[in-house]
Amino acid sequence: MTLCFATHNEHKIAEVQALVGKSFSLVGLESIGCREELAEEQDTLPGNAWQKAHYVFTRYQTPCFADDTGLEVETLGGAPGVFSARYAGPQRNAHNNMALLLKNLEGRASRAARFRTVICLMADEQPRYFEGVLTGTIGFEPRGHHGFGYDPVFLPDGYPQTLAELPLHEKNKISHRARAMAAFVAYLQTLKS
Ligand code: IMP
Repeated sequence: MTLCFATHNEHKIAEVQALVGKSFSLVGLESIGCREELAEEQDTLPGNAWQKAHYVFTRYQTPCFADDTGLEVETLGGAPGVFSARYAGPQRNAHNNMALLLKNLEGRASRAARFRTVICLMADEQPRYFEGVLTGTIGFEPRGHHGFGYDPVFLPDGYPQTLAELPLHEKNKISHRARAMAAFVAYLQTLKS
């Protein structure tokens, strides 16, 4: 079965192909002739994952899945959440996003947070959702140089290091994305048999 991963990022496709195994052949958006940026206009992670997967499924008539990830901070009511990439507004980049987050957490008693990844699969008209969560706390200053995004300020529960201080292969064992992918791959395996 050929499945489209609704992303333009070839690294993501290669990474997920390794997890999915040989029974499913993954193709990216370029391979199905989709060169446009996919809209993410919903206000929830499942909403955005669905919007991307549904667009590709209906426009290109191909089985497809999409993902969306956010950092949810408890005391901030789940912010930045679905707005994680653009938290700092027009000046958004990882540095400014983290600086704003640390500022908004000044004086707060709780720094509990979680990363959440949602995958939406559209293999037919019925969307199916898979989720992966990594719980932790937000540190007081950025530390480490691996990874990307909010990794330097996120300490996974049970680790003294931030995600950016862990080697990538360690992060990939516990990450929200890996957990969502594991749930997704387990479902795909049931389709094979
Ligand atoms: P996306 O849905 O994978 O594009 O992620 C949206 C935003 O969430 C990114 O731009 C990052 O700011 C943040 N993010 C997603 N995954 C991670 C991660 O593994 N570590 C740190 N930040 C992340």
